[in-house]
Amino acid sequence: MYMFPGVAVITGAGGTGIGAATAKAFAAAGCKMIAITDLNEKTLQQTAESITSTHPETEVLVKAGNVADDQFADSFIDTVVWRFGRLDYAVNCAGVIGKSLRSSETSLEEFDRVNNINYRGCWLSSRAELKQMVTQEALPSHDPNRPPQRGAVVNVASQLGIVSRPGAPAYCASKSAVVGMTRADAIDYSKDGIRVNCVCPGVIETPLVMEKAEVREAIMPAVETAPMKRMGQPAEVADAILFLCSTQASFVQGHAMVVDGGYITL
Ligand SMILES: NC(=O)c1ccc[n+]([C@@H]2O[C@H](COP(=O)([O-])OP(=O)(O)OC[C@H]3O[C@@H](n4cnc5c(N)ncnc54)[C@H](O)[C@@H]3O)[C@@H](O)[C@H]2O)c1
Repeated sequence: MYMFPGVAVITGAGGTGIGAATAKAFAAAGCKMIAITDLNEKTLQQTAESITSTHPETEVLVKAGNVADDQFADSFIDTVVWRFGRLDYAVNCAGVIGKSLRSSETSLEEFDRVNNINYRGCWLSSRAELKQMVTQEALPSHDPNRPPQRGAVVNVASQLGIVSRPGAPAYCASKSAVVGMTRADAIDYSKDGIRVNCVCPGVIETPLVMEKAEVREAIMPAVETAPMKRMGQPAEVADAILFLCSTQASFVQGHAMVVDGGYITL
């Protein structure tokens, strides 16, 4: 059983995808202070309402915006700290999928769009989060075998940050960048008592892959190939994220945890 006595922050938490499932999982695990953001204000409100209707004791801070905008990324974390005083578990989940094109067919605009949100947005969010985490006291440890934790960051990369698929150079590169950034931050912030890890989901049944027929088509071969031969559910990724945020993962640092039905083992 996890304990989350601190403050959780989740980007990309609108809709019915991994970010929303993570925010709901934090509430279900007893986290009482949750801040969520997304570009889509309407679906973000829906996530907040879903949490407060099932967990009325949980306070949910909602602020819509674009994680690729440095001013927004900083001001979101400023608002979290103003409201809750600190931040303990940061999950950087906002992301988009690119068009299925080879490099020679990909426009600069498309390359920049994908990388600005998936990589730059993730870096801007984690930069703002780490800036706050280094200034705050660690939460006291309830377990003599585990040191106090000053903060835990989980970036959402992809199985395509580890291996690649046809027609996705910008997306694969953006997610490899998130894996590399995670490892670099893990090295830099270990001495501060902050853990930085990432999850690398396989094909997960979310609007990102289900909404457009062309995306579903491009992605289906990966589902057929993976040993478990099914899509994952957002809650299955949320469970891995909660583990990495929890003090049960107190010695897990700079890890890229694949949650992919075995896809990358092939
Ligand atoms: N679904 C999958 O198969 C899969 C696989 C591997 C990795 N991922 C990654 O998981 C993360 C979540 O994706 P999902 O599948 O839950 O998709 P999703 O579309 O349900 O969620 C992504 C959310 O990010 C938000 N978003 C997009 N651009 C944003 C921006 N600039 N600023 C703020 N919010 C923004 C969207 O509005 C959306 O609510 C993404 O980073 C995605 O790359 C998904």
